[in-house]
Amino acid sequence: MALYSSHLLQYPELKLGERIRDARQRQGLTLRQLASRLGTSSARLSQIENERVRVHLQDVLEVAEALNIPLDALIPTDVTLPYQITRDTDRRARPPKPTLLAYPDGSAGRSSPHQYWSLANLFLGRHLEPVLGRIMPIDEHELCFCYHDEEEFAFALRGTLEFRIKTPEGEHREELVRGDSVYFRSDLPHCFRSLEAEPAETIHVFCSPSVSTAGGLDWAHSRAIVYTGDGGSNLQRRIGQKLMLLREEHGWSLDRVARSAGLSGRQVLGIERGERAIPLDAALNLARAFGKPLRELIGLTVARPPYYFVQRSKDISSSPIRRRRTPVERPHAPPSKTCQPLLGDFPAKEMYPCFLRMLNVDLETLTLHEHHGQEFIYVLEGELELTTYAGDEEVHETLRAGDSCYIDSTVPHLLRSWTRNPYSETSAEVLDVFWCPLGEAYLFDT
Ligand SMILES: [Fe+2]
Ligand SMILES: [Fe+2]
Repeated sequence: MALYSSHLLQYPELKLGERIRDARQRQGLTLRQLASRLGTSSARLSQIENERVRVHLQDVLEVAEALNIPLDALIPTDVTLPYQITRDTDRRARPPKPTLLAYPDGSAGRSSPHQYWSLANLFLGRHLEPVLGRIMPIDEHELCFCYHDEEEFAFALRGTLEFRIKTPEGEHREELVRGDSVYFRSDLPHCFRSLEAEPAETIHVFCSPSVSTAGGLDWAHSRAIVYTGDGGSNLQRRIGQKLMLLREEHGWSLDRVARSAGLSGRQVLGIERGERAIPLDAALNLARAFGKPLRELIGLTVARPPYYFVQRSKDISSSPIRRRRTPVERPHAPPSKTCQPLLGDFPAKEMYPCFLRMLNVDLETLTLHEHHGQEFIYVLEGELELTTYAGDEEVHETLRAGDSCYIDSTVPHLLRSWTRNPYSETSAEVLDVFWCPLGEAYLFDT
């Protein structure tokens, strides 16, 4: 669970020319001397050192050999970082991720009317998929109900939104204003739209028992299935659709799926079309072959109320404060933050969104902590400092409003913030979504 430092690098940041010049000068060699060892001209070597030409790996190897130094003196080795920061300004400069919705009959997908930006795309092995959404004001007839694994949390950053969900008890509609959030079963057909003329802005975090992070794919939406009114409630149909999507995602042929399942191609086709029930032994074989838990393949959970929970911004001040089991304050020090879960009594499986208010306290009373799981942190207001590790070095990163960070919580970390204003009680406000399969009892004191 990590991010490779080289994934953050662009070629110019390798600073190869500078590294070669430094290495040459450390050995007291002139341009001409090194050039002659390399069998090239001083003019070409000078171009390399001044970054005027793109260097091939072969050139770097030859320089390393000529100077008798290891290759990693010129090309920095990869460090694994237990965090990925997404700055608001960088995110805004990027185009949105194309998000495709698949039709259950296997016909070509359609693009989502809304736009999404991944906020943790480089973090390998993440269990949550946080995205920033721009939710468009669309007409009733353009509404597209879709469903996907397994739970979703959406927080309204700007504008007024409509959230609709089709449950076994009928369709529900909620209006969300800035600061409201909804936690819901995303395996039920649902949709969003902006109720104002302008797009609304949202944070969505998707949680599914297994995640594919290959290629930084926005899995949650690219795998969403459009609800066409017949597939959502019928289990056999849904398993068929799921199997079809998994086969497409993996680029497997029908034959390959059939072989893995121990079935014939015709049988697999029948299952995909929802005409045939899947034998349990075939389901187990397929779950293994796709690297998915059985629960994700066959949807073991039956939809029962509550289907969703809405936390209203106006009620946040009266929502209960919970104490974390792994506090960052030293014993007997005053609390450094308050933590209010945003899911009410919703029986969340593995994802716990919280609203954190960082209190303006003496920073010396705080220590790094570590705990099982991962965290997605989004700064709503103020400025914070994240302390954690890059390789074996302690690092400090400043996060401002709109910035976010995905971290591996098993690596020691600390969020702290302060304000110069001695009268201010709060120094920053943060959305913190924990992924923790050990559950609520592990995260919070009872
Ligand atoms: Fe969704
Ligand atoms: Fe933490």
